[in-house]
Amino acid sequence: MMKKDIFIFGIETSCDETAAAVIKNGTDIIANVVSSQIESHKRFGGVVPEIASRHHVEQIIAVFEETLERAGLTFQDMDAIAVTKGPGLVGALLVGVNAAKAIAFAHDLPLIGVHHIAGHIYANRLVQEMSFPLMSLVVSGGHTELVYMKEHGSFEVIGETRDDAAGEAYDKVARTLSLPYPGGPHIDRLAAEGQDTYSLPRIRLEEGSYDFSFSGLKSAVINTVHNAEQRGEEINPENLAASFQASVVDVLTEKTVRAAKEYDVKQVLLAGGVAANKGLRASLENAFGEIENIDIMIPPISLCTDNAAMIAAAGTILFEQGKRDGLDMNGHPGLDIEEF
Ligand code: KG4
Ligand code: ZN
Repeated sequence: MMKKDIFIFGIETSCDETAAAVIKNGTDIIANVVSSQIESHKRFGGVVPEIASRHHVEQIIAVFEETLERAGLTFQDMDAIAVTKGPGLVGALLVGVNAAKAIAFAHDLPLIGVHHIAGHIYANRLVQEMSFPLMSLVVSGGHTELVYMKEHGSFEVIGETRDDAAGEAYDKVARTLSLPYPGGPHIDRLAAEGQDTYSLPRIRLEEGSYDFSFSGLKSAVINTVHNAEQRGEEINPENLAASFQASVVDVLTEKTVRAAKEYDVKQVLLAGGVAANKGLRASLENAFGEIENIDIMIPPISLCTDNAAMIAAAGTILFEQGKRDGLDMNGHPGLDIEEF
């Protein structure tokens, strides 16, 4: 008998994107709708939690309707509802979680809470099948970590940032250079036009550590700008962006390569908003291109930043593993990926 197709409806509202998607069998994108609020947060230079929650409430029904319309399906065709239950902004998470509960209750569908970072990692499965064991480098606005997976649904954090996330450092450096929020893409663009001429630190921490630290690098960039201002000198934004990016990319690449070899993985996955970074993509492709037996997988840029297709992709695995949440599910701003 032919196996029945599994359709999962995914919902993501943990930060500043209101998103919904329909995924077939965990791998095929049937519809993927993202409504960004970036314009509303830009003038504040960052995400304002209260504004984010209000936007989600205003947008979510329209995003659901558009997703079903594009898919040509209804909630009756779904096998389950998957929603980001954390980590993220609590007020923002709650909008998605409550919408998911309402739909699950109204249509008598299973409800599955998904960890946001698990979602970022599973964005890769929308491109190519995963092979285990694997190492994922997760780099986003809120997280920077190396996650080891020995099988589907199993996550071990072997290293993480002790201060700023990589994306946060990008956004703060961009702000110092008077670039709009979110600054990552602007720094990336400038870096491509500049040279690594400023001497900035590579912060590697103790010998053998897989942890990261970006606050010292960020301070070094801010000091460089202030010192130039005091001396009445011009800084070269392209070169400073290139120098900052080179430092971030060097450390991320070096630790990822070392972790992949030590854990003897078959695959390395890049995940999270900063995975859109052209310098990082090129550096990892280059480094792993020279290593036999380890494949590097990098999702297309549209699947790197927040979306619900990745949440439905991760939700499909949980669905197949029989994991369910009750209608008492809550939003968890500090949800741990090893325990969710
Ligand atoms: O994963 P994401 O969309 O949201 C979180 O879960 O945090 O990541 C957003 C982060 C922001 O800090 C943004 O500046 C950064 O990803 N980002 C980039 C690039 N595109 C987005 N950072 C560097 N280079 C990029 N091209
Ligand atoms: Zn994210």
